[in-house]
Amino acid sequence: MISIDEAIQNRHTVREYKKTPIPDDIAAQIRERIKELNAQYGLEMRLVTGSGDAISFITKFVTTKNVNNYIVLAGRDAKDLEERLGYCGADLMLMAQMLGLNSWWVGGTINKGAARKTGHIPDGCRITGVIVLGYGETQGVPHKSKKAEDIAKYYGDAPYWFVRGVGAVLLAPTALNRQDFKIRGDGKKVLIGTGGGAMAKTDLGIAKYFFEAGAGKENFVWNNE
Ligand SMILES: Cc1cc2nc3c(=O)[nH]c(=O)nc-3n(C[C@H](O)[C@H](O)[C@H](O)COP(=O)(O)O)c2cc1C
Repeated sequence: MISIDEAIQNRHTVREYKKTPIPDDIAAQIRERIKELNAQYGLEMRLVTGSGDAISFITKFVTTKNVNNYIVLAGRDAKDLEERLGYCGADLMLMAQMLGLNSWWVGGTINKGAARKTGHIPDGCRITGVIVLGYGETQGVPHKSKKAEDIAKYYGDAPYWFVRGVGAVLLAPTALNRQDFKIRGDGKKVLIGTGGGAMAKTDLGIAKYFFEAGAGKENFVWNNE
């Protein structure tokens, strides 16, 4: 299995997949992780295999192939639901990459009725998107990226962990590849903010996960909490 750092480097959006199904043992590992995250973060995420129903609508706008598996991102609505789903979705996406899978995060334009049905999502839960999983026809390509200085500033000489955290954020997926972040480091404190936009809170959760993975949680504290 590759490391989380390699997964961060190697992961790119993939929309065209091989027919190969996800083997049972790999699906079981992902389901186990989903169960842990659901319990820890109060969510209702589910892995659906052997169905492409939830994204049938979006396929009219982008080229896709053999989209047959996805994680439904769902939970009881709350102010921080999107951020929690962003954070936990990032964990699952990187785990999938480490297990040899490719992925595609799909936001607003999915068929939520189909996602609810195929994922058996409880009534009263909100669905914020799906993460498509499978074996890619290709590994995807790196996105066009902002530079570290466009999104981050450290007061004084930036320590290595800060540079690595920002580097990881720049490799994270964001809705419309917006990368709309402001990261500020001061001593061991890190502040992260986003602009507005439909998926900004989801992007924030994803970015926090990637920053922690790159910087090492033990090296800093979030100043937002
Ligand atoms: C919250 C979120 C929502 C997204 N929604 C869509 C979408 O609706 N359709 C789509 O084709 N890609 C979607 N994407 C994929 C992004 O376009 C992609 O992650 C971004 O361009 C960066 O590319 P990368 O994933 O290869 O790094 C979404 C990504 C995120 C994080």
